[in-house]
Amino acid sequence: MVRVLTALSLVLLSLNSIEIAGKVVGAEKYSRHDFPADFVFGSGTSAYQVEGAANEDGRTPTIFDTFAHSATWLGGNGDVACDQYHKYKEDVQLMVDTGLDAYRFSISWARLIPNGRGPVNPKGLEYYNNLINELVKHGIQPHVTLLHIDLPQALEDEYGGFVNRRIVRDFKAYAEVCFQEFGDRVLHWTTMNEGNIFSVGGYDLGESPPQRCSFPFGLFRCERGNSTTEPYIAAHNILLAHASAAALYKKKYQPKQHGFIGFNLLSLMFLPATNSTADLSASQRANEFFIGWFMDPLVFGDYPEIMKRTAGNRIPKFTKVESRLVKGSFDFIGINHYATGYVQDNPSNLKREPRDFVADMAVKVMINAEDAPPDGFPVMPWGLQFTLEYFKQLYDNPPMYIHENGQRTDRNTTLIDTSRVEYMQVFIESLLDSVRNGSNARGYFSWSFLDVFEIMDGYRSSYGLYYVDLDDPNLTRYPKFSQHWYSAFLKGASIPSDDVIRLGKNSDTLSTVSF
Ligand code: FCB
Repeated sequence: MVRVLTALSLVLLSLNSIEIAGKVVGAEKYSRHDFPADFVFGSGTSAYQVEGAANEDGRTPTIFDTFAHSATWLGGNGDVACDQYHKYKEDVQLMVDTGLDAYRFSISWARLIPNGRGPVNPKGLEYYNNLINELVKHGIQPHVTLLHIDLPQALEDEYGGFVNRRIVRDFKAYAEVCFQEFGDRVLHWTTMNEGNIFSVGGYDLGESPPQRCSFPFGLFRCERGNSTTEPYIAAHNILLAHASAAALYKKKYQPKQHGFIGFNLLSLMFLPATNSTADLSASQRANEFFIGWFMDPLVFGDYPEIMKRTAGNRIPKFTKVESRLVKGSFDFIGINHYATGYVQDNPSNLKREPRDFVADMAVKVMINAEDAPPDGFPVMPWGLQFTLEYFKQLYDNPPMYIHENGQRTDRNTTLIDTSRVEYMQVFIESLLDSVRNGSNARGYFSWSFLDVFEIMDGYRSSYGLYYVDLDDPNLTRYPKFSQHWYSAFLKGASIPSDDVIRLGKNSDTLSTVSF
């Protein structure tokens, strides 16, 4: 079946005009040539989600392995994943076929430095050198994330990972190995993926690694943790770890390697659910908690006032030295953006004692179900524009990369992933609008290049441009319609206008999400 569908999508591609959602649309609207010449288009994955070879060549377990093996609802784990560890050459060839300018991937700390600290694993070094060389050989820029969830379990066990200040020294030492070994070829470094979601999901809700939370908070029963304080402590240490690595890079490596270093956040840009003053200020507050939490320290050297006031002594205070270290410690910001939440004021949360991070926000978050395909995200491209405008106005328009954006679909359904094409089409178009409006966005990476092991639902969902047949021992990759669409776009095709799908917000269809 898969092969038939592949053939079908190839036929679709060979048509001069691309048929989307039942309409033949050939009128020129935009193409990649409308973006600045050095604007980078790529796609991404992360180590645990794609590499496999979890128990090979000296790699040790990480908090992602532990989570995946214990979270039975995921129905799988990343032990084998897409086996990119062994199939990287084939995958780089697929990137060439697709026409990617850049590949965003992460390095597995536990593969490079088993146990998190100490000697470098020659096999880990060899693997990342091979992957990077293969990319560079084909003219594909490596954009590398140092930590994408998978902290070595050894450091979590030894001292609690990010809740302990000791992580800062170990992270910096790991980062230095990467700069030293790969920095002659890697020019784009991101220290950490989604610092905000890692802190909330891992230390308040307990729904993601390292699954720490405390009763009555958290969506799960956690064995350890403290939802009232740890999200704030983890975030503080993440900022310090990031800033220490960035300072080292800027001082010792940047002058000779001429690369860039940045930080990554999930933007769940919050908009007011109604035009009441209360909801308007609730949405501002939610954005300060979610984005300002990291961006204020990175740009101004301290947390937003509203957070300090609400969390009191539960949020760490920056010393003068820390503040100076963190302030300005980035060359770019990576933004992951999938969906936009609508926010209602929920002041009763502030009467709760004790409170976790979520209660401190004092909002109810809703999504607009009407705009969502049954198995995917609501398609709200204005959320991305709003995000970029927000960074432009509040944080002086830093260089930004859209590091992740893509549509979820159920896996094993069809290779004709029309909803993903529709999604990418309007998001890339809204990105172009933002760039034309003066946004300093420098690149766009679709999530994900292949169907990988997903943190929320294992192998049941998919975001990839390529389907990976897990029943086939060769884990054969099959291009989807979205791969053909993106490839055509990357090779200069004109993309039709945004009337393909209906866009709009109807507040009657808002429904509360568990958050
Ligand atoms: C993001 C993660 C990424 C992927 C997508 C769907 O939050 O960074 O690894 O799982 O969600």
